Amino acid sequence: MLELEDVTKVYSTGAIEVRALDGVSLNVDEGEMVAIMGHSGSGKSTMMNILGCLDAPTSGRYRLDGVDVAGLNDNQLAAIRNRKIGFVFQSFNLLPRTSAQRNVELPLVYASQGNRAARAKAALERVGLGARAGHMPNELSGGQQQRVAIARALVTNPAMILADEPTGALDSVSTDDVMKLLVELNEAGRTVVLITHEDDVASYATRVVRLDDGRITSDTPHRRGVRL
Ligand SMILES: Nc1ncnc2c1ncn2[C@@H]1O[C@H](COP(=O)(O)OP(=O)(O)OP(=O)(O)O)[C@@H](O)[C@H]1O
Ligand SMILES: [Mg+2]
Repeated sequence: MLELEDVTKVYSTGAIEVRALDGVSLNVDEGEMVAIMGHSGSGKSTMMNILGCLDAPTSGRYRLDGVDVAGLNDNQLAAIRNRKIGFVFQSFNLLPRTSAQRNVELPLVYASQGNRAARAKAALERVGLGARAGHMPNELSGGQQQRVAIARALVTNPAMILADEPTGALDSVSTDDVMKLLVELNEAGRTVVLITHEDDVASYATRVVRLDDGRITSDTPHRRGVRL
């Protein structure tokens, strides 16, 4: 479903060039749950941005469901992101002063899809927050806010969830809740790619890929729940 082929990403800031990704090849099949690990600055978010069609490689190829995204214009990329990918970020990225319900409805607004209220409600129920639909983000705990963000990622029924440090701002109890939810979604057939620094979080995945200095240094299957 995801194919990176010899991908490099070079950032040029003034005279300095940073090779954030340096010849990365990676295939992720439908139904996998892959944890991407690595030190700060190793290229994890850069890779996630490319996988999510938020940024383009400097060289190499990225195919999503067999489609080379380099050939797509901005509108086509936005449509793919909206249809195929649900994003979850460390900082939740919920709109303030906007109810959980409205936050979850937003991707449906962008996609001009109907039946928004019912679908958002169902997504909130899916993450165990049906009773909090009317709450504002600042009336929810961090773990609950992240579950709203996951509901927002799910509401368009994407085949894939990309999560960049989804538990980075959470305590250990909320981390477990969020990870168990991601595992359930994965077991229901969704592909999940998540970035994390933490072994405990990566141990929920079925495959662990390690990055160092823009290169993949290991890529191993992992039995869910076994300690790393
Ligand atoms: N927009 C940018 N402009 C210039 N350099 C960048 C940019 N984004 C990232 N970099 C550089 O590319 C490298 C990889 O950054 P990236 O954000 O992918 O790391 P990361 O593995 O996600 O780190 P962290 O764990 O701290 O989030 C770093 O050296 C970073 O400074
Ligand atoms: Mg990062």
